[in-house]
Amino acid sequence: MAKVNNGAALLSLCLLLAYSAGQSAAAYVDVEGTVRKEVENAIKGNPGIGAALVRLVFHDCWVNGCDGSVLLDKTPSGGNTEKKAINNIGLDGFNLIDTIKYKLGNSVSCADIVVFAARDAARYLSGGKMAYSVPSGRKDGIVSSDATADAILPQSTFEFQQLKDNFANKGFTQEELVILSGAHSIGVSHLSSFQDRLNDSTATPIDDSYKQALVKDIEDQKKSQNTSDPIEKNNIRDMSLKFQNDSGYDTAGVNTAAKGALDNSYYHANLQNRVLFKSDWVMRTDSKAGDDMAEYMNNATKWNNDFAAAMVKLSKLPAEGSARYEIRKNCRVTNQNYYY
Ligand code: HEM
Repeated sequence: MAKVNNGAALLSLCLLLAYSAGQSAAAYVDVEGTVRKEVENAIKGNPGIGAALVRLVFHDCWVNGCDGSVLLDKTPSGGNTEKKAINNIGLDGFNLIDTIKYKLGNSVSCADIVVFAARDAARYLSGGKMAYSVPSGRKDGIVSSDATADAILPQSTFEFQQLKDNFANKGFTQEELVILSGAHSIGVSHLSSFQDRLNDSTATPIDDSYKQALVKDIEDQKKSQNTSDPIEKNNIRDMSLKFQNDSGYDTAGVNTAAKGALDNSYYHANLQNRVLFKSDWVMRTDSKAGDDMAEYMNNATKWNNDFAAAMVKLSKLPAEGSARYEIRKNCRVTNQNYYY
């Protein structure tokens, strides 16, 4: 009799364990693991997507806080969304965010996905040196306007004081401006975003041999990309050896083999007057910002740590205003538009 009871108890235990295992397998989604895997696979297939994700979190969180507003194609109130803003030229990563959202379902906000994806892109592109944690739990907004994005996002033609004010409005210091601008060690830019640097009437100091090499390369890129507004690589470190030699680029202290890496090479380029944007160069006009850039140029680890800390702060910018917040079913439309 005792034997039968033991057997029954064992069977019940097995059934219970099997049931719980089935339950948790169905309910448990490894959110951060899924984002990380998708981001890494995407970058392996297309390295440019990593830079796009690092920029995307900045453009989302700066405008209305981290609320996925940059992802919307339309809103209940109508009008152009942030994607149409002039300052959002070249913004990318939307298809990958859609893919990740599809895998994660309705319990994870699009805003969280943007933050996690940028974090994982930064980690991957820095060879694991840029590792940081960010909280989850953001909600998605229902407001998105191109005019607001153009009023709030900084422009590449800004003066130093405008950049400082822009960052101060979001609670970021001048040091954090210098630190976060180091993201321009990766990615690309359209000619229209740095054209002012090449026109005699608007040019700000730029190394002449670099400028000549750029002008020549732009003509080649116009033909190969078949557009009057081609893209160029942001970082001279990522250009060909010939381009670097023609530009007189001093590679001392730069890992030139690490093309596409998120690292402190931006400071080497900027302190040599070999960067694309006026907004990058203009930081040299302030002695404290210049000293900070020299420090980051000479101390890669310090920049890794400080950049990670600034990205955490950026990723925590709270959603603004009193508009309704939700977890979107589709990152491109609000739930109201999803249903109707
Ligand atoms: C300080 C003010 C900033 C200005 C004025 C600025 C401006 C720009 C511009 C004009 C582009 C090129 C867009 C194009 O023509 O396609 C660009 C690209 C980029 N920016 Fe910034 N940016 C700033 C700060 C930041 C910050 C804080 C981050 C991230 C933390 C960032 C990350 C990037 C990245 C990764 C790219 C390359 C994107 C790609 O290749 O898809 N930028 N930025």
